[in-house]
Amino acid sequence: MHTDIDRILITAEEIQAKVCELAEQISRDYAGHDNLLLLGVLKGCIVFIVDLMQAMQRPLAVDFIAISSYGQSTVSSGVVRLLKDLESDIAGRHVLIIEDIIDSGLTLAYLRSQLLRRNPASLRICALLNKPERRSADVEVDYLGFDIPNEFVVGYGLDFDERYRNLPYIGILKPEVYVSNHE
Ligand code: IMP
Ligand code: MG
Repeated sequence: MHTDIDRILITAEEIQAKVCELAEQISRDYAGHDNLLLLGVLKGCIVFIVDLMQAMQRPLAVDFIAISSYGQSTVSSGVVRLLKDLESDIAGRHVLIIEDIIDSGLTLAYLRSQLLRRNPASLRICALLNKPERRSADVEVDYLGFDIPNEFVVGYGLDFDERYRNLPYIGILKPEVYVSNHE
């Protein structure tokens, strides 16, 4: 285990099992539709979307959007910035947003409202992690991996200050790591 990690919350094996479950569920639900677009929210989605799409035995397309609500902090600022727009036209398509984690829900609430204006055939949300205690915006998750407690986690794509994305598990970061970073 990495020395900055306090404890492992979800092991690599548990994540893989859940990703397969989600892939099966999504494949079943979209069985009749051949124009499914997985829309990954960069950068936290990177590991999740790669594993998820490989577990899905069906036609699909992938695109990415980058938004930021954090900067170098562990608390959401509430201000969402669009850093990179997607390249596809989503009008008439079945769009499934792929997110690493929903915390306050502000990022997804903003993204959802922006995307709905472009007239997709449907718009759903798939998130690996959810912190229900912290929700302030009203967003519904259609496909969810795990509910987790209100702790700052890293790994499997999730970062603190761009680090730890490559850890294969979800771990709780030692508080002294982010406290010392801001002194
Ligand atoms: P929200 O707008 O508060 O829901 O924030 C969502 C975004 O904040 C996620 O997509 C993550 O990028 C980031 N985030 C929230 N909680 C964590 C965490 O525990 N670890 C790492 N990133 C997080
Ligand atoms: Mg994110």
